[in-house]
Amino acid sequence: MKLIGNITFKGDKSISHRAIMLASICNGESIITNVPDSEDINSTISALRNCGISIKKDDYQLTIIGNTFKTPKKEINCQNSGTTMRLLSGLLSFKKIKCTLVGDSSLSRRPMDRIVIPMNKLGIKATSNKGYPPIELIDFKNTELDNITIDLPSAQVKSCMIFSLLGTRKKIRISEKFKTRNHLELMLQSLFKELITVSEGYIEINPINSQKMNGFNVEIPGDISSASYFIVAASLINKSRLVISNLLLNKSRIGIIDTLKKMGANLKISYDENAHSFNEPIGTLTINGVKTLKAVNISSDHIPAMIDEIPILSLACAYAEGESVISGLDELRHKESNRLDGIYNILSSMGVDVKINKDSIRINGSNKLYNTNKLNNCNDHRLAMMISIAQMKENNSIDYPECINVSFPDFKDILDKVIFYK
Ligand code: S3P
Repeated sequence: MKLIGNITFKGDKSISHRAIMLASICNGESIITNVPDSEDINSTISALRNCGISIKKDDYQLTIIGNTFKTPKKEINCQNSGTTMRLLSGLLSFKKIKCTLVGDSSLSRRPMDRIVIPMNKLGIKATSNKGYPPIELIDFKNTELDNITIDLPSAQVKSCMIFSLLGTRKKIRISEKFKTRNHLELMLQSLFKELITVSEGYIEINPINSQKMNGFNVEIPGDISSASYFIVAASLINKSRLVISNLLLNKSRIGIIDTLKKMGANLKISYDENAHSFNEPIGTLTINGVKTLKAVNISSDHIPAMIDEIPILSLACAYAEGESVISGLDELRHKESNRLDGIYNILSSMGVDVKINKDSIRINGSNKLYNTNKLNNCNDHRLAMMISIAQMKENNSIDYPECINVSFPDFKDILDKVIFYK
């Protein structure tokens, strides 16, 4: 069996959330294309519709008329989407919309103090339920602060802060201790240059007349996190060859590519010099399968650039020669499930020699066949796709549980297109 083909992916989830939210606060019409029809993105769309924003959906194109906010009549349900809840809390506090944000049972167990505490410091009266959802936005004051520091490696916290500060009356600096994905900064720089100054380790939000922000048109580049399942699968299966075009290749997101290269994968990037989607680097990635990958050591500073790819990377390590160690994984405990425990349980049920020590995982890879029956995906889309790729690699029948639709409804169709059995 091998994977062969030329493929593309629907737009990146992180960029799509941000583009839709940004369009909602701009005057007039924005047209966003290549938007994925995933449940998380649909949560952002329906949340904004509940706040009075008109969003028309034609296949993968959205037409959004911005700046028509109304106080929602009921709670805003963010379903399974942490990005929706955290970024929208910032956006709605900029628009001074009093409301309550709730989520499904998984989101209701995810920490929200990380945004509520800094929002309170900025002068926003917001509460959580002992650190967890619901979040209530109660009252809004202009901030007195000159700077605020984000201690966690979280782009969601940073983007929440940026959105909430768009109406600032004076310049404010946001510093981050860890470098995280920078999509919102790139978007704002490319559309409203005077609004934001980006420097090494911090950004500054400048007071501008936000009434002057007008709508925009953009095509979202292909989702690198969705692509990662195919990049790993093709790397692991000798004689595979996949060519992925129109792929997001932002440095703050391609940790999986850099790491697989260190493991001996045959990956070639070619950048499209003329692509323009919010100044995001875009290009084509060619993957040629190799006979074996080798183990790798990854330190915590490399994790933010591949935080969502750790499940599929762990599977690659299970098939690599030697012992891999991945450190700095504490944040994985706060995703859609406790992904660190989830990865451990999946790999050990497969028969992989794996250990967890505090926030690091050791995986002893080998070439033997692994069991792929009865693995627990914890109803988490990224763990479910990790299991599907393991089943494919072992030539077993592949499960496609419904939770995959949270981020990647096309997963099965694309896999069907590129698998060749012989
Ligand atoms: C995201 C940031 C990451 C990532 C999530 C999407 C974003 O979360 O895990 O899937 O779009 O900002 P954290 O910011 O909590 O690390």
